[in-house]
Amino acid sequence: MRRFVIGAVAIEVALLIVGLTWIGPMNSGGDGGSDTATAATQDFRIYGDGDGDVVNVVLDATETVQTIAPDVDYHVWTFGGTTPAPVIRVQVGDTIHFTLNNKSELGLSHSIDFHAAQTPWDKNYQPVAPGESFSFDWVARFPGVFMYHCGVPPVLHHIANGMYGAIIVEPEGGLPPAREYVLTSSEFYPARRPVDGVFEGDLARMEAVDPEYVVFNGVGNQYLDAPLEARPDETIRLWVMNAGPTLTNAFHVIGALFDRTYPDGNPANILYGLQTYNVAPGAGAMFELQIPDEGMYPFVTHSFAYTGLGSVGVIKVSADVPEAPATYPTIADPFDGGLTETTGTVKAGGSDTGTVAAPPEDEGGGGGMNHGAAPETVEVSAALAGFDPSEIEVKEREVTFNLTNTEALPHDFTIDDLGVKIKLDANGSGEQTVEAKPGTYEFYCSIPGHKDAGMVGTLTVLPGAGH
Ligand code: CU
Ligand code: CU
Repeated sequence: MRRFVIGAVAIEVALLIVGLTWIGPMNSGGDGGSDTATAATQDFRIYGDGDGDVVNVVLDATETVQTIAPDVDYHVWTFGGTTPAPVIRVQVGDTIHFTLNNKSELGLSHSIDFHAAQTPWDKNYQPVAPGESFSFDWVARFPGVFMYHCGVPPVLHHIANGMYGAIIVEPEGGLPPAREYVLTSSEFYPARRPVDGVFEGDLARMEAVDPEYVVFNGVGNQYLDAPLEARPDETIRLWVMNAGPTLTNAFHVIGALFDRTYPDGNPANILYGLQTYNVAPGAGAMFELQIPDEGMYPFVTHSFAYTGLGSVGVIKVSADVPEAPATYPTIADPFDGGLTETTGTVKAGGSDTGTVAAPPEDEGGGGGMNHGAAPETVEVSAALAGFDPSEIEVKEREVTFNLTNTEALPHDFTIDDLGVKIKLDANGSGEQTVEAKPGTYEFYCSIPGHKDAGMVGTLTVLPGAGH
């Protein structure tokens, strides 16, 4: 098996060499010599190192349990604690300073393979032992949507158990505004019976291509209950990446056609008016479509033996849907289609914007910190137009913020200085209790663009009677 894998890689390398001998003369134009190409830019790629940002991407390889279907807990192997791994978004010309921390508790080696990168496999895509870390830099030269994954043999096992994610490389200067979602297709092959309530991946079923689930973004049918949303006639941009490991996704939206399909997401590849497009394992595509009429539009793999295994979701088209986000984060949550910054173990850009303040310690009952006053509950509703109320006044004491999200768009409620961060799913709710010290605090939604849209307010904590 190991020899087969190495052989397969050798074939891939050979094809790459053949490819280069064809591409070379075409790229060098009339002036010959590939050196002149180093500063050149083609409409489908750049050469050289680019002059973009340095983006720090740190992924921890971990094993954890994820609910992949109702009542089905699966022992996933992950980058960053989720399957799929976080969505990464950069631009052509950016340098990705990548670090893999292998925190495997099963004693497994893991590695990385970025399909968006040009970098030597024998140096940078090698197994990293448990407890070890490995870093390297690569330059994003091709725009598109690409797979990244673990390549430790048997690769089938590591991918099928969840070690993959999507990286979007936008062209220089970005793309025209659109309502974007990232959809990663993949299969799960659990054993027939769980162990202590958790299903392990079954390598024999993986080899036999006998999937139990075929899903978008790691959870079967999740967008039936919580549809993706869009407005009539706006441009919807779907970045679809198929992690496989084995099945092709025949991507189709019922009741719609694709205005433009961009194989692998490169803006130079354009196909018009398609109904269905095959996204192979290890490949991607970007779809742009406009849907004129309000209604529900299911998206599926049109390989119907697999559709019913979890590979169906819905786009709800309605004029009442909130405006599309103005920007999308560098490191994003895979489950909401790449809309919000992730709260996992991944950090972007060397800043701490991708991490969440540690939740306050549970102060329990009878702690000496509540000044004898009963906890106060403050009800706040959240919407893009703003929080209601936007001015809150409380006395110094334990305060429970009880948030309700009134619309089908994720939000959060953040007070940096009090360590408050309440994540709100679409139409969801949440609460957090903190010891509020006297002072004036800003609260806001930390999802990019939402504070500017009006999601900001002021909390005033007055000195308590106990003082
Ligand atoms: Cu691995
Ligand atoms: Cu690959």
